[in-house]
Amino acid sequence: MLNFQDKNLKSKAFNCNFFKYWMAIRQPIITVCGHVDHGKTTLLDRIRGSFIAAKEAGFITQKISFTLYPIEKLEECPLFDTYGAKLKIPGFLFIDTPGHAAFTNLRKRGGSLADIAILVIDINEGIMPQTAEVLQILKINKTPFIVALNKIDSISGWHHYSDNLKENIESQAIHTRQLFDEKLLTIQAALNNHGFNADLLYNVSDFTKKICLVPCSAKTGEGVPEMLMMLCGLSQKFLSERLKLDKRAKGVILEVKKEKAHQYIEAILYDGELSLGDEIAIATFDKPILAKVRVLEEVLPLSEKFKAVDKATAATGIRMQVSDMKEILPGMPFQIYRGDIDETEKELKKEIGETIKTDKEGIVIKAESLGSLEALITLLKQSNIKVLKAGIGPITKKDIAEAKTSGEKNTLYKIILGFNVGIDEEAKEFASDVKILTDDVVYKLIENTEKWVKEEEKRIEREKLGELASLCKLEILHNSVFRNSNPAIFGVRVLGGKLKSGTLLINETNEKLNKVKGIQSEKKSVEEAVSGMEVAISLPGVTFDRQLKSTNYLFSDLSESQFKEFKKNKQILSSEDLKILQEIADIKRKEKATWGI
Ligand code: GTP
Ligand code: MG
Repeated sequence: MLNFQDKNLKSKAFNCNFFKYWMAIRQPIITVCGHVDHGKTTLLDRIRGSFIAAKEAGFITQKISFTLYPIEKLEECPLFDTYGAKLKIPGFLFIDTPGHAAFTNLRKRGGSLADIAILVIDINEGIMPQTAEVLQILKINKTPFIVALNKIDSISGWHHYSDNLKENIESQAIHTRQLFDEKLLTIQAALNNHGFNADLLYNVSDFTKKICLVPCSAKTGEGVPEMLMMLCGLSQKFLSERLKLDKRAKGVILEVKKEKAHQYIEAILYDGELSLGDEIAIATFDKPILAKVRVLEEVLPLSEKFKAVDKATAATGIRMQVSDMKEILPGMPFQIYRGDIDETEKELKKEIGETIKTDKEGIVIKAESLGSLEALITLLKQSNIKVLKAGIGPITKKDIAEAKTSGEKNTLYKIILGFNVGIDEEAKEFASDVKILTDDVVYKLIENTEKWVKEEEKRIEREKLGELASLCKLEILHNSVFRNSNPAIFGVRVLGGKLKSGTLLINETNEKLNKVKGIQSEKKSVEEAVSGMEVAISLPGVTFDRQLKSTNYLFSDLSESQFKEFKKNKQILSSEDLKILQEIADIKRKEKATWGI
């Protein structure tokens, strides 16, 4: 057995490469995720000893980034001598994610790219919308995770008494301890509501049943050694099969970056070995791109810088230039190509197919990467919104044309959603043809889409009702009879609803009169009159003094099917309309008791 307490084995010469090649265990990929500003980047800074958070504009992480954390650094951890004896992993590959754009869902075939996630929660704020979103995605992907209850230093009265976390918590003043316990209980209860049973790390004995909560401070470093040892322990205990290095290089594209005159692909190599000159197959929505690796660089440990290498071994962050850089999309998987085009195509297609499942009809959506596209699709499905086409990159003229065509089948499909993407310059002049909603926060995009769908449905219903019939009640103004017959012309007051020319009128005993031929308001012809107006109407085929002399009210006539249609849409009728509808039904039911039922 290897004994890590042996100083020779711990020497720098005996570095991670030994483990990589001899034991072929790769670094676990640890994704740090959580709500905006809860301290993800600062926590990573504390772990790696850097100051990246402070260099970011407004402390906001814009893109996914990675950090290679070597075993030598783990050896510096104060708890290493206690727990590190069993250490087999060659380090970690940490991935930082931006909180504002939700959890940019990094996937590989059959699940999450992350072997373990650290969900960062500001202990003072608790579970926020993006925390909830992350929990949902962790659950769907079945990703193991620990919770970093960050910013304990900002709990009122908190002091750093001991380097031992348990002792430190127990040494706090009574009032501070109470505050801590209250916050802890609130978060435990909230996690429970999301279906997770969680407890403080030193109370957890079965890690398969409970989520570990690690109170910590990215600012003072409290709890960070415990977190690192927890990650080591979990990786070794539960991931040893998953961490076995495969021969075939596999990875995922994060970004296509332009630097000076050159274009680079930034990617995560999550399995196998990749060498300079290797041919790789990169997935697209169509056929895979086959390209040779012309430049290969690997990220330096604990740094954002890269160095040229001949070979990179998973898991690591790489930068490459390949012989065909066209149409490479962020989020797409790639793998080494061994001449087996059919097999490769099938595998990559399956991988994308698993992620992006579209419907035969629906809306058009665009996102910045495959992962975010998938996150958007998953959430749209939960809201029962169908997706016809899903793509990566800005909204184009073609997308607008497609949404327009789809909208001709169903107006609810006349919308394009852009998650963290803009609109192409040449597409802008067509933008008014369809509804375009963009946002960089996925839940806001979903919320706004649902709102739009509801408004659109109401508009369609209203239009349908408008086509149906007009609903109105009129009071005859007996002192304003201008002509007795051929046609009868007299004054009415619209008591409710809308009077339109062409409306067939009935009296209080359901006697059909005729269709209104003309309406005049202040001596001018109008097409319609609304509630409160006094107008003159002309009714051909009616003799006023014979048929209307003793009538006070007139109503629009309705057929039973029209009445039922109104009843179906009663949520958009005013209370005045509903009253008229009831009065008409009462008139009709005097003749036929089951009318409209
Ligand atoms: P996004 O990348 O925008 O999602 O944010 P983030 O989660 O990476 O948060 P970041 O690390 O940028 O920290 C946000 C703010 O919280 C900064 O002002 C940090 O200095 C502060 N902060 C982070 N961790 C701690 C902590 O443990 N204690 C205290 N007091 N402040 C912290
Ligand atoms: Mg950040």
